Amino acid sequence: LFSVLQKTIRPVWAVRGVHMSAVEVMKRPAPEDTVTASFGRFISEVKPRHLSSVVLQRSKRMLLDSIGVGLIGSTTEVFELALQHCQHMYAPDDISFVYGRKDTRLSPTLAAFVNGVATHSMDFDDTWHPATHPSGAVLPAVFALSDMMPANNKPSGLDFLLAFNVGIEIQGRLMRFSNEAQNIPKRFHPPSVVGTMGSAAACARLLSLNESQCSHALAIAASLSGAPMANAATQSKPLHIANAARLGLEAALLASRGLEASPLVLDEVAGVAGFNAFYEDYIPRPLESPSDGGCMFLLEEQDMAFKRFPAHLGMHWVADAAALVHKLLVGVGSGTVSPAHVQEILLRVPHSKYINRPFPESEHQARHSFQFNACSALLDGEVTVQSFTPSAIRRPDLLEMLSRVRVEHPHDNQANFNCMYGEVQVTLVGGDILKGRCDTFYGHWRNPLTNESLRKKFRNNAGAVLHSDNVEQLIEVVEDLDRLEDCTPLLSQLQ
Ligand SMILES: *[C@@H]1O[C@H](CO)[C@@H](O)[C@H](O)[C@H]1NC(C)=O
Ligand SMILES: *[C@@H]1O[C@H](CO)[C@@H](O)[C@H](O)[C@H]1NC(C)=O
Repeated sequence: LFSVLQKTIRPVWAVRGVHMSAVEVMKRPAPEDTVTASFGRFISEVKPRHLSSVVLQRSKRMLLDSIGVGLIGSTTEVFELALQHCQHMYAPDDISFVYGRKDTRLSPTLAAFVNGVATHSMDFDDTWHPATHPSGAVLPAVFALSDMMPANNKPSGLDFLLAFNVGIEIQGRLMRFSNEAQNIPKRFHPPSVVGTMGSAAACARLLSLNESQCSHALAIAASLSGAPMANAATQSKPLHIANAARLGLEAALLASRGLEASPLVLDEVAGVAGFNAFYEDYIPRPLESPSDGGCMFLLEEQDMAFKRFPAHLGMHWVADAAALVHKLLVGVGSGTVSPAHVQEILLRVPHSKYINRPFPESEHQARHSFQFNACSALLDGEVTVQSFTPSAIRRPDLLEMLSRVRVEHPHDNQANFNCMYGEVQVTLVGGDILKGRCDTFYGHWRNPLTNESLRKKFRNNAGAVLHSDNVEQLIEVVEDLDRLEDCTPLLSQLQ
């Protein structure tokens, strides 16, 4: 049915600027045939058996990484500020756990909010293609809602994973409605838009809402979406993920109470902006209903990128290219790297204004600076959590290196995580040139972290706030999650 509709109806609905005559208006799809309804149907009908073993495996890796990143993120200043805000502004509520604070519980939406802040506080969370940070918008909401459910009726591990995967899937589907979404963003931060929708979808799934309630949850979430890129590299960027988790949960809870919104929010309706308010080139397509013949989740064809250090994903290419040059520089300086040997540092990176910062002044700016990450890796051979401490950011060697940096944007280096590269070329004082290039960093979806590397990252991150026994138990619980009849062991390890 949908393929027929697409051929006959889509040109009218999808072509921008076409004036809809009265005749064309009559071709509007029946309510159950809209893109919006198809999304609602998918969310309401999908079952755990639709998750393939690859999807289960990959989503469990995402879970483990996201929990670790959230745990270490609970040590940050921005997390502390957000938590204090929630504790002081709202009456204490005793329901949902908070990363890294054993004795603190909040209302579910506020717990989703602060755990979202934790997850993106260091820019350490996962990245997908097209570009967004999918887990941080969903997992805190699924956790908060699971905590809210009665002890005798907690979701099973599989239901938990299904809700999480629905939240990821809806983000991927929405981003495929626009070519613009393929590239590193310029106007709004994607998690604040597709993330809110993903969180709403995941929560609607976990609440077992029916088809129309699920599409209302999405439509309500669309009204709670959006944050400008100007707040990238500030303390407010983590709020984008936090609000996505919180407001998506809120949207699903409101829909479960019967609140309604546009039944055409995902469709292309001439003259009335729905989700296309966010994209210039939006072409929506209905989502096929899950069937017993299987259900292909996008995670199966598009794996995730996991970061090795806490900075914008784009930094991983220049850092790896610079690490190669570091090895050559160590030879030049007989064991140490000194700015005194360096005449010029040339970076060949994509054109993306918000990650081109010659002299970052704060931790958040440093996490969004090609120059900073390249120079840190030139000096140290790697970028780590410690690279962003106030003393590391201000060390004289680093500032001296930064003063020698020049940036070029080659035409073949697009601002797109699937095809960008990083090149670092150092000219020595004597005129010799040292070069390093990275096309695919370790952790990118084309070169995924091994399970062992992913666990090592988790142990470092979670170990910042939990006892090592606890850390090992979390690894086991996540690994066994699809076999748990009740997700309580996962929740209880975190509180
Ligand atoms: C969905 O649930 C609501 C609330 O219980 C109900 O009013 C509505 O008729 C249901 N819709 C469908 C399609 O089942
Ligand atoms: C992680 O382990 C699973 C089996 O437990 C395996 O199927 C998968 O390929 C591994 N992933 C990577 C990236 O090594």
